[in-house]
Amino acid sequence: MQKGYIRRIGLGTMALLATAVAAHALRYYATLDNVWFGVDPNIKAVILQVPLQALTHMFVAPVALALGPLQFFPGLRARHPTLHRWSGRVYVLACVVSGAGALATSPFASGGWVAGLGFGILAVLWIGTTMAAWISAVRGKLEWHRLLMRFSYALTFAAVILRLQILIGFALGYGSYSGMSPILAFTSWIPNVLIVALYSALEARWRSRGFNESRPARARHVERLSQ
Ligand code: HEM
Repeated sequence: MQKGYIRRIGLGTMALLATAVAAHALRYYATLDNVWFGVDPNIKAVILQVPLQALTHMFVAPVALALGPLQFFPGLRARHPTLHRWSGRVYVLACVVSGAGALATSPFASGGWVAGLGFGILAVLWIGTTMAAWISAVRGKLEWHRLLMRFSYALTFAAVILRLQILIGFALGYGSYSGMSPILAFTSWIPNVLIVALYSALEARWRSRGFNESRPARARHVERLSQ
């Protein structure tokens, strides 16, 4: 019961933060009309250097960020399996397209080559885990699908963690985003991945000991997805 509450609050917070960051990214559509309101001058320079790659990333990535949380609500997943499948396909496509844009933008990252390296590794892992998660769903390997999608979204959620860490960076005295981005290009995603790994390992242990409240919901999910 308590576990269910904590889970719902966690998912709700994740969805709210993701929606807020995705909505904030909509300002990049105005750059097509040469309106740069709210755009960091260093990011503007990146866009002007590689507009196709950078804007493909910035326009499409928010779709993955906003859609992702829907996939994790157990009630929604169990009651609307078709919606789960279709929003999952859009999520995968958004990750792969915007991940390719991010990978091509990484060498031009405003924070220099260290930032570029961090974002480049993130982009490769993002595309890789998302594709692997999708392939495992198609092949009916649903336990793998669940695990890999958790990792995929942990990487997508780097967008939120990075923006929260920017606030911490300014509070610590960094003068600009580009100054802190060589660190953020790593700290925005490595902790997320470790948290998912730890949570999934603990969950597997609880399940092997028989503490599995959500087993009926999971069984229904597996059953419906394989229909
Ligand atoms: C998870 C893999 C991701 C990678 C590898 C990645 C990579 C990058 C890179 C290299 C830049 C250029 C920034 C710079 O010069 O320092 C950038 C900027 C940006 N990215 Fe991503 N990104 C990812 C996820 C996302 C997501 C999920 C969103 C959704 C909102 C997003 C939205 C943006 C936006 C709006 C910018 C422009 C800068 C800003 O306003 O903060 N990215 N990204």
